[in-house]
Amino acid sequence: MVKKTIEQVEVAGKRVLVRVDFNVPLDEQGRITDDRRIEMALPTIRSVLDRGGSLVLMSHLGRPAGGGHAPSFSLELVAARLAELIDTPVALACDTVGADARQRASSLAPGEILLLENLRFHPGEKAGDVEFAARLAALADIYCNDAFGTCHRTDASMVGVPEAMGQKPRVVGFLVSREIQFLRDALENPRRPFVAILGGAKVSDKISVIQNLLARCDQVLIGGAMAYTFSLAQGGRLGNSLVEPDKVELAARLLEQGGDRLVLPVDTHCGDNFSGDCDKQVVEAGQIPDGYEGLDIGPRTADQYAEILSTAGTVVWNGPMGVFEIPPFDEGTRRVAEAIANSGATSIIGGGDSAAAIEQLGFADQVSHVSTGGGASLAMLEGRSFAAVDVLDDA
Ligand code: 3PG
Ligand code: MG
Repeated sequence: MVKKTIEQVEVAGKRVLVRVDFNVPLDEQGRITDDRRIEMALPTIRSVLDRGGSLVLMSHLGRPAGGGHAPSFSLELVAARLAELIDTPVALACDTVGADARQRASSLAPGEILLLENLRFHPGEKAGDVEFAARLAALADIYCNDAFGTCHRTDASMVGVPEAMGQKPRVVGFLVSREIQFLRDALENPRRPFVAILGGAKVSDKISVIQNLLARCDQVLIGGAMAYTFSLAQGGRLGNSLVEPDKVELAARLLEQGGDRLVLPVDTHCGDNFSGDCDKQVVEAGQIPDGYEGLDIGPRTADQYAEILSTAGTVVWNGPMGVFEIPPFDEGTRRVAEAIANSGATSIIGGGDSAAAIEQLGFADQVSHVSTGGGASLAMLEGRSFAAVDVLDDA
């Protein structure tokens, strides 16, 4: 169902409560290392301000305990970064539904921005508490969900708040609408061949994704440590590689279900310890010597995957091919990223690690779409729908 967007509501003189996902990565000093999630929310924010509305923004950051204010999870630096990016002052409330938030929200003038403090400081957020949701809903005239990265959650701000808005409009922002459209178009109406490439550590994390994609894709290419559990199911030797012995039967079933469409590595780049200066060897898949562990796909696999990707019509990528943080085990991920960037395919990069990899490798502007949601884009690839979006007004 197509949802009403922020563009389709009159916002002049109104207060708009926008759920954003400003859950950005921070370094040890608490500095923001990647502000893409803030940047990608700017079109919605600008659209409201330019049309004479005011904004109450709300987000979570990290996973605080929910027992009140915790300084290391404060949105203070996020507010400062947003103000810089949008070149407009951003006031930060010291609470979420307390006196400060209420007073500041009620005195907003058109063109002004208030950011509430971290929603997860209040226990009601994770609990989906209806009373907490009602107090948030009371802060504004319009609700907008532009938090794609959190759409797979049913926290109060995602579901309870739109439910509590009553007759007031509840819409999607530009980021959510664009993300959903890209992923939905790829899944439902792909230009073929449709190729998915999946990496990451565990088969168990990706079972539903593999099953759903096998039913839709022409080929599903497997990399990352997940490949070793498949190899084990084929009777391979894996040395010290990361495997899930209890998922071997499942891997065997997926192999049977997938047939030719499920493509596994033919060789493996392995090392005798988890570091860049270990002894390295390239071996045939399933022939990893004792004392060694697989850390990346091998060069023949990278060639083969690059070849398949180069003629794809649609590519969806989720999960790195190896330990791309430790060169030279970034090579497989780099070759795949490069092949996707150079192909004429509509290319969608799942959030989380694959988004970080494509950014770090410098190919982000050569793909069609880099998602801001890790868990959320995986949920879509599994074929799940979002309660947080279903609850919004239809267009
Ligand atoms: C994320 O980064 O995955 C989203 O912001 C949701 O956060 P969560 O996984 O802590 O719910
Ligand atoms: Mg998450």
